[in-house]
Amino acid sequence: MRAVDWIDGHIRYLDQTLLPHEERFVDTDDVRVVEDAIRGLGIRGAPAIGVAAAFGVVLAVKAKNADHSLSVRRRVEEAIKSIGSTRPTAVNLFNALHRMKMIAERNPHASEARLLQLLEAEAKAIQEDDIRACDRIGELGASLLGHGVSLLTHCNAGALATAGSGTALSVITAAARQGKVVRVFVDETRPLLQGSRLTAWELQKAGIPVVLITDSTAASVLRDGKVEAVIVGADRIAANGDAANKVGTYPLAVLASRHNVPFYVAAPTSTLDREAPNGSAIPIEERDAKEITHFAGVRVAPEGIGVYAPAFDVTPNELITAIVTEKDILRQPFAAAIARTLKVS
Ligand code: MRU
Repeated sequence: MRAVDWIDGHIRYLDQTLLPHEERFVDTDDVRVVEDAIRGLGIRGAPAIGVAAAFGVVLAVKAKNADHSLSVRRRVEEAIKSIGSTRPTAVNLFNALHRMKMIAERNPHASEARLLQLLEAEAKAIQEDDIRACDRIGELGASLLGHGVSLLTHCNAGALATAGSGTALSVITAAARQGKVVRVFVDETRPLLQGSRLTAWELQKAGIPVVLITDSTAASVLRDGKVEAVIVGADRIAANGDAANKVGTYPLAVLASRHNVPFYVAAPTSTLDREAPNGSAIPIEERDAKEITHFAGVRVAPEGIGVYAPAFDVTPNELITAIVTEKDILRQPFAAAIARTLKVS
């Protein structure tokens, strides 16, 4: 199953807003549909957003209704601006758009047809890089886990969130293939339920025993020694190792530290942000109040109240045991480890 793919010149994505009830793939050559899907979480998860954004640039540039009086390079710039405004936190989006921009800048004399070819090839390379990174993260991360472990994860960092086998879930499925995993506790992940709707669905399909818990149950699960490790994905990792991920991740890291349980972050190097010195430089998306005041379309809070709805929180690096990338397993001091990793990539 590929959450986002490129088939004969158009994007095919699995509409994640409909899971787990319905598996509906959407085929589109309209970049506006792709942008709306990213905003509305039909396409979600940091690496998947990056891949969709790259193919989105190709769609925008070759669209019949594009402004063909503009040069291809101008159309690339416009597309990057528009796609870049969909969601602010996952840096994979901006890293992918940057790669696409570089193609246009490095080929100033290419014909329109040639530049389109090059852009499509770059988007495919971004997709393939992610597929490879996911598999390698799985292999490396599984080596951190012993036999007979129970794990806990938050949100969805699986195949649905990437072009390949996932990040945190790639580690879990790789370890499960080695017979190491007894069960996985899955936080439901308020308010949009990526844990119960998506992660539980993916793990069940993979034949891995799932125990669904509310986010607030994680504290007693960790206190009671039911879990040997917590493993999550990330949307953006600052140069010092502070990591933004789905809101509710930071409290899990605090709990893991309190109960001496290792807390692992799994993410490709495309999630590292060398420009953000620490977590306070990471822009945190705020979502529509309705995602909290309403549940499945029904109002569950009084009208007229204040709402604070950040989509992500930042886990300070000192609470992270290790960051698993496709290049290496990074440990404290993260600033030096991340700088080394970015130098060789
Ligand atoms: O709002 P979402 O569902 O896009 O948030 C996704 C997450 O927080 C994931 O954990 C993160 O993108 C890592 S995905 C490999």
